[in-house]
Amino acid sequence: MHRGLVVGACVATLSLALTSGVQSAGAAKAWMNPKLSPDARADLVLKELTFDEQIGLLHGHFPTLMGPKKPAHIQQSAGWVPGVPRLGIPDLTESDASLGVASAGRKDDDATPLPSGVALAATWDARTAFESGAMIGKQARQKGFNVLLNGGVNLLRDPRNGRNFEYLGEDPLLAGTLSAATIRGIQSNHIVSTSKHFAINDQETGRMVLDAVIDEAAFRESDLLAFEIAIEAGQPGSVMCAYNRVGGTYACENPFLLTKVLRDDWKWPGWTMSDWGAVHGVNAATAGLDQESGQQLDKQVFFDAPLKAAVKSGEVSKARVREMTHRYLRSLFAVGVFDHPVKAGGLDTKADGLVAQRAEEQAIVLLKNEHSLLPMLAGAKQIAVIGGHADVGVVSGGGSSQVAPLGSVSFAKPKGAPSWGGGQVYHPSAPLAAIQARTGGGRVAFNDGTDHAAAAALAHNADVVVVFVTQWSTEGMDISMSLPDGQDGLVSAVTAANPNTIVVLETAGPVLMPWRDKAGAIVEAWYPGARGGEAIARVLFGEVDPQGRLPATFPASEAQLARPMLPGADQAVVEGFGAATPAPFEVHYPEGSDIGYRSYAKSGQTPLYPFGYGLSYTGFKYAGLKVAGGKTLTATFTVSNTGKRAGTDTPQVYLTSGPKRHQQRLIGWSKVTLKPGESRTVTVAAPRRMLASWADHGWKVDGGAYQVAVGPNAATASLKGSTKVAAGTLKP
Ligand code: GLC
Repeated sequence: MHRGLVVGACVATLSLALTSGVQSAGAAKAWMNPKLSPDARADLVLKELTFDEQIGLLHGHFPTLMGPKKPAHIQQSAGWVPGVPRLGIPDLTESDASLGVASAGRKDDDATPLPSGVALAATWDARTAFESGAMIGKQARQKGFNVLLNGGVNLLRDPRNGRNFEYLGEDPLLAGTLSAATIRGIQSNHIVSTSKHFAINDQETGRMVLDAVIDEAAFRESDLLAFEIAIEAGQPGSVMCAYNRVGGTYACENPFLLTKVLRDDWKWPGWTMSDWGAVHGVNAATAGLDQESGQQLDKQVFFDAPLKAAVKSGEVSKARVREMTHRYLRSLFAVGVFDHPVKAGGLDTKADGLVAQRAEEQAIVLLKNEHSLLPMLAGAKQIAVIGGHADVGVVSGGGSSQVAPLGSVSFAKPKGAPSWGGGQVYHPSAPLAAIQARTGGGRVAFNDGTDHAAAAALAHNADVVVVFVTQWSTEGMDISMSLPDGQDGLVSAVTAANPNTIVVLETAGPVLMPWRDKAGAIVEAWYPGARGGEAIARVLFGEVDPQGRLPATFPASEAQLARPMLPGADQAVVEGFGAATPAPFEVHYPEGSDIGYRSYAKSGQTPLYPFGYGLSYTGFKYAGLKVAGGKTLTATFTVSNTGKRAGTDTPQVYLTSGPKRHQQRLIGWSKVTLKPGESRTVTVAAPRRMLASWADHGWKVDGGAYQVAVGPNAATASLKGSTKVAAGTLKP
């Protein structure tokens, strides 16, 4: 560039800086000093922002709906919030979500899908959760995103919720602990993770209009507790508020949720973002919403001109706008987005696929194994593999979280599924190929299961049968607890033809099994993720001990559910962007915080399989329980491997009753891998909050005797003990 031009350019820059009344060219960007606190850095850059620039940071686009207005450098993805280049404030590039970098309709995508969230929960392993989060967070960076809209931690109150596959089961301690680890894993890549959908967004039917009605103490001890643990231990940069109403007020304009709970009680310093299309007015700003997401989906862009007008009229204070901007910026500093700008490139899907496979191998739950039908013998003469598109791959969940790696195969969606989103996507990891690789292809025959008689005939002539069943589910629609597409009939026909039948479930969560007594073995593989077929085969052939434990109760019938008829199910219209939404309706939660195992403990009903249940190829016993008290309680006991092969067990510690309350609660667990005959003594300390009740606007621990049980699942108390715990209170 000619020298004169260079000088001209410098002068122009200087004058521009001076005229727009912002940082003088001489002052280096003081906020880029990493030695300063995130809050101090946010205050420094806030001083340089004009009012209009602040407003510009408080609403974001849905690139997929921007059409020609989408800048060429912005990918088809969930979200984009333009930055302020002159101050070094980066664009926010947001991707979904819980199970990996979602394809968002991009073609030829090469992201690596994790197993489902409920599968991750079945690992009961915070380190696996961290590693899984670290992998998908790394891929998000490598694909140019600095926000991963992860952290779905809504509790599994209803097995029919279409998004259970994205979440972490029914218990607040298990779900919150694993969600926190995932968030930490994602943010270890210096990109933001969210925690979502805040709160009690526990079904898809009518999600944009329903009003969740629940007693505050029950709310605090269940759905909110899962978020409290996830947010306190995970420190997500952002929390995404949900579509539904809570106590009559939309979650995204709910002062109780966004200000009282998140800020006043939990002292969480991050910024709140709306779900996409979840903002209904500027009043959301004063309620505690900091940023409008996916503005193209709202009736209008509220956090732009209407917000400026509201400041002008005094409805919203300038101080509130500064606070909204401050929270946003301080999170970007705190997570490292400013100091570690994302640079696309460097994906290593081979190595990353092994992270997903390891998680799935730990997630697979052995539910039944008669006459040691499993592990399968590679020497079996004739193996029949039936159904579940096992020749193609493994099923995955639909909606915004859909990861569709190269080679995925998509099948038509069932009737009633939302019009948006892709089909039933199968990830390219065929269980059939993995089984053939271990037995020599010649002796393995496949039948797709559509003709039950033909499948039964093949089964009849086999030494061992593996029948795969799948239950696809998606955001925007709830499901039945019964397997779809006549698969119960298929399993019944096959098990009648050959009792040496192994049923492999690839489901979204708990399902009914009318054929359970006829099956020789049953394995729950959830949505298996990348290399899922390999993981399933490694467990079936005993290369890995099945170590998953159920993160949710499997009910014996829909009659056992708190709401036998799914609320709103009589509404004709399925939810979806642009689809007509049904009239508002209330969902009541009479079970309160007694979700899943807690309600079975109270009612004495027997589920199909209890929370925490899972078998191994070896056996374990527990002995020598000692329970120590004081401010909280600790349980010390010995775990022994009583079998002939190494295995992994997850003994669980439950509070069964306290001085004033008799509610069963998971208060801790330990995951141990033992050689044959090996024993190990473990100590599990209960977080004090798990002994507390919500009363008088805070957590209260009653003083007195606490009964404790140690067992392999919520319904089996192998060891019992008790101790005294001191009375006390905890911060809200
Ligand atoms: C969706 C989902 C949310 C997702 C967002 C962006 O409707 O509820 O989980 O992160 O929109 O796609």
